[in-house]
Amino acid sequence: MREKLQKIKEEAARQIHASEELSRLNEVRVAFLGKKGELTAVLKSMKDVLPEDRPAAGRLVNETRAAIEDMLEETKKRLEAAELNFRLKQEVIDVTLPAKKNRIGHRHPNMIALEEVERIFVGMGYEVVEGPEVEYDYYNFEALNIPAGHPAKDEQDTFYITDKILLRTQTSPVQVRTMETRPLPIRMIAPGRVFRSDEVDATHSPSFHQIEGMVIDKNITFADLKGTLAEFAKELFGKDTKVKFRPHHFPFTEPSAEVDVTCFKCGGKGCRFCKGSGWIEILGCGMIHPKVLKMSGIDPQEYSGFAFGAGLERIALLKYEIDDMRLLYENDDRFLAQF
Ligand code: DAH
Repeated sequence: MREKLQKIKEEAARQIHASEELSRLNEVRVAFLGKKGELTAVLKSMKDVLPEDRPAAGRLVNETRAAIEDMLEETKKRLEAAELNFRLKQEVIDVTLPAKKNRIGHRHPNMIALEEVERIFVGMGYEVVEGPEVEYDYYNFEALNIPAGHPAKDEQDTFYITDKILLRTQTSPVQVRTMETRPLPIRMIAPGRVFRSDEVDATHSPSFHQIEGMVIDKNITFADLKGTLAEFAKELFGKDTKVKFRPHHFPFTEPSAEVDVTCFKCGGKGCRFCKGSGWIEILGCGMIHPKVLKMSGIDPQEYSGFAFGAGLERIALLKYEIDDMRLLYENDDRFLAQF
């Protein structure tokens, strides 16, 4: 038995020292010390040993077991250290490598222009409100006095989702939603994204932004509209800017007008920027049609109001002298960094 144990110990030592990986070492442990291991088999054969020899034999088995365990533990420590060393070497950081540059984003010209417009109107006591981009036909057309079959519905090539639901073609529906929910008087602007099935070119995009404005109170007149927009134009484009109201037609306003500002490049003399006319169109406006007020539950005998709608991209292009709207949608860092 002594001999057998000695052999087991030697064989274990040989296999332990030959192990180059922790997983292999574990296999060796199981092979010798496991339930079906060699040493365990010897232990099981103790019943064949003479009773008087058993204590000495037991001690011998225990000593062998302890010796194998010591070897396993020592090798385990050695392999673990080697593994750690290997990992550390693999994960060495090359501190001489050039660092990745952190790119800082830039504010978009649309956003800068919008904040400027909001600052001006909030300064005049307006609230900034929002409405949904997915809108009912009722709010986008019907309640704005654009009934089914009205040519404006074709003009504004609309993305329909269902018969009654669409992507809003203008921010004007926010007028209706505001009239329905806010107490009078109302002074609000409503910036937001709008959609029309237009092809992309230098001045068109299927998705762009508008800023709607609306004032409703007693005794609001066209003079209030003129004064407000004249002040707005001066704040936005410079104090020498003049405004011109050209008669126009919108279904939801009566009378309606388009507003031009004197070219801030040439001061009105005529240049390439204003195509020689001295004037640049910036928005549509008018006195809110009595039918529109009535449909939203406001008595046109008692109240009146004005409204306007401007294209945000158009304002940004003019203010920052950008000559192609597509630049606003590409978000090229080098372009955005200029504003
Ligand atoms: N919604 C019009 C458009 O998209 C712009 C507009 C014109 C808005 C006159 C108004 C307005 O509020 O009074 O072309």
